[in-house]
Amino acid sequence: MWSTAREIAAGDVVIIWLTREVIQPLHITPGKDFNSKFGNYKHSDFIGIPYGSKVASRTGKGFIHILRPTPELWTLALPHRTQILYLADIAFITSWLNIKRGSRVIEAGTGSGSFSHSVARTVGSAGHLYSYEFHEARAKKASEEFKRHGMDDIVTLTHRNVCKEGFTIVDEADAVFLDLPAPWEAVDYAKTALRKDRTTRICCFSPCMEQVLRTVSALNEAGFTEITMYETLLRPHEVSLVPTLQPIAEVSEKLKKAEAKREEKRLQQIAANKTRSASMKRKREGGTEEDEDEAESKRVKTDDEDAGSKEESSSHLMTRESVEMLVDEEATPMASRAPSLAPPGKMSVSKALPEVRGHTSYLTFACLVPSSTFSAPPPIAAAEAAAPNVEASSSDKIDA
Ligand SMILES: C[S@@+](CC[C@H](N)C(=O)[O-])C[C@H]1O[C@@H](n2cnc3c(N)ncnc32)[C@H](O)[C@@H]1O
Repeated sequence: MWSTAREIAAGDVVIIWLTREVIQPLHITPGKDFNSKFGNYKHSDFIGIPYGSKVASRTGKGFIHILRPTPELWTLALPHRTQILYLADIAFITSWLNIKRGSRVIEAGTGSGSFSHSVARTVGSAGHLYSYEFHEARAKKASEEFKRHGMDDIVTLTHRNVCKEGFTIVDEADAVFLDLPAPWEAVDYAKTALRKDRTTRICCFSPCMEQVLRTVSALNEAGFTEITMYETLLRPHEVSLVPTLQPIAEVSEKLKKAEAKREEKRLQQIAANKTRSASMKRKREGGTEEDEDEAESKRVKTDDEDAGSKEESSSHLMTRESVEMLVDEEATPMASRAPSLAPPGKMSVSKALPEVRGHTSYLTFACLVPSSTFSAPPPIAAAEAAAPNVEASSSDKIDA
């Protein structure tokens, strides 16, 4: 599959990485040009340089990276002829279907070949992928790509309608993957193609719950077990810079100091009021003791109110101060332990975005256990069949 040489050669397929969003394949053809908003290049510029090189444009205005294709990069770069499977689903399906080196796998339809490339790498030359596509032009294009990518000894592509004609192999496949609008129409054919000497697996990929329900019914009727449905979701995270947080002990120490300062001020004010009141009493000989006391209590009250409003505003300051404490110079021990590219006083945090990108499809999985050790249960009622996660006796599970 693809070139394993260190340097790029004429005829190779490479992946041009322009930006994180713009990734495209290129078939190196001497004499051709590659033009992009990141500059102009000649294919011959790439011949003889190592895969992974960063190449400056002929005008020196831009640059691109030239990467060796992998199934993961191919999925990001391939020309879309249909909707495709992405890595989260591909990895999960490969794992659940127990696809490994040497496995013999069926997929239908081939579509844009995204799933095919990953499976071909996993099964390797010891295994085989039987791929089926009923759209003639898509089948032809995928066939050309498989050949160009050096996969034609691992993949056999057949142009046919699998819901009408079934598959080309009998009692041979370890796993079947159906990415079709009506997978339930191919379930019996899949059973015929699956080997019967060990437990085999099937996965049907459908965007609507109605399709899942019909598939679950068909799988039940055909005697498949462990019928389970999953949905894989992408959870994007956003990384941003925020002010570093101070350790809680430091924040609490600063708050305690500010509180002590405020108390000291309050006591000073009470003492000053008492002195003032005593001297006024001495000066005003005409006034009664009671009048003086009342006047003094009013004054203390007014002063206290003043002090209160000052304290209040100083407590605003406190709040602002505490916020400032959070944003000032020192990094937290946690942040300082981790090597960071963040500027001083800031740290990088990652948070999951509240919105999750819509799911691509539901994945309905099931097993087919060897017939000698498993007798199919009677067909279950429609309502029961409608519910995914229907399992036959788990004691019947056999793994080869
Ligand atoms: C969504 S695409 C498959 C995408 C593919 N899994 C990928 O990752 O690139 C579905 C393909 O199934 C093909 N198809 C639909 N019904 C079919 C049938 N009955 N037999 C064979 N191929 C069929 C369509 O032409 C289409 O190309």
